[in-house]
Amino acid sequence: MAPEFPFVTEADDHCESPLDAYHDIMPLLKHLSGNETEKFCIYDPYYCDGGVTRNLNELGFPNVYNRKEDCYAVWSDVDQCPKFDCLVTNPPYSTDHIERLVKHVTSSTFTTGKPWFLLLPQWVHKKEFYQAATDALRPFYLVPHKRYVYVPPKDFRESRKSDVHKKSSPFVSMWYVYGGSAKQTEAIIRTYLQIQNAPCDLARSKSALRDLRRKKR
Ligand SMILES: C[S@@+](CC[C@H](N)C(=O)[O-])C[C@H]1O[C@@H](n2cnc3c(N)ncnc32)[C@H](O)[C@@H]1O
Repeated sequence: MAPEFPFVTEADDHCESPLDAYHDIMPLLKHLSGNETEKFCIYDPYYCDGGVTRNLNELGFPNVYNRKEDCYAVWSDVDQCPKFDCLVTNPPYSTDHIERLVKHVTSSTFTTGKPWFLLLPQWVHKKEFYQAATDALRPFYLVPHKRYVYVPPKDFRESRKSDVHKKSSPFVSMWYVYGGSAKQTEAIIRTYLQIQNAPCDLARSKSALRDLRRKKR
């Protein structure tokens, strides 16, 4: 039987981020944690089947907050918001979830100084709502050399007959990263640039993303 959630869900949104996506940002999470990965609390507000906790635990981050609760209700009450060191998430792509997430992490109600890593389709950086919200923050982008493939948990899409939906990567995705401050963003960019044979291309801006696309053609 398909599981129940205390919020409205769309079947196609039930896809968990793969281990390799987390693996690609590990050096940056380690940097931000000051190599104290045991204490470092990672918050993923969107709950599917707990895969995020299992993946991050496997990579050495035991302190993960990812619960089956309506994140919008949580965000609406400051006292309910969990304490965390860094937000790492892949939101649902349906309706206005991406826009709500981007607005939240760039708002004054979001804990100031907290870094975020958003795994989003590449088209998001061209959207007006995204540009308006992030213009002053200047996040950067990690574009994986190998496209991430998302896996729906078993039985979550039982009504589907088509095999097409068993594994899915409907959009090419990449990491949108902000270090919590301009200084911290620069520091993690430097950390990333020191990695030999890095699994992602780093782009500092929208125009750098365009240059990357042209280079790949
Ligand atoms: C694309 S999945 C990603 C799950 C997880 N964040 C990950 O990266 O593996 C998005 C999930 O968001 C959940 N979701 C939808 N609305 C939500 C809400 N209001 N609060 C919390 N989670 C929600 C859905 O259950 C869906 O499985």
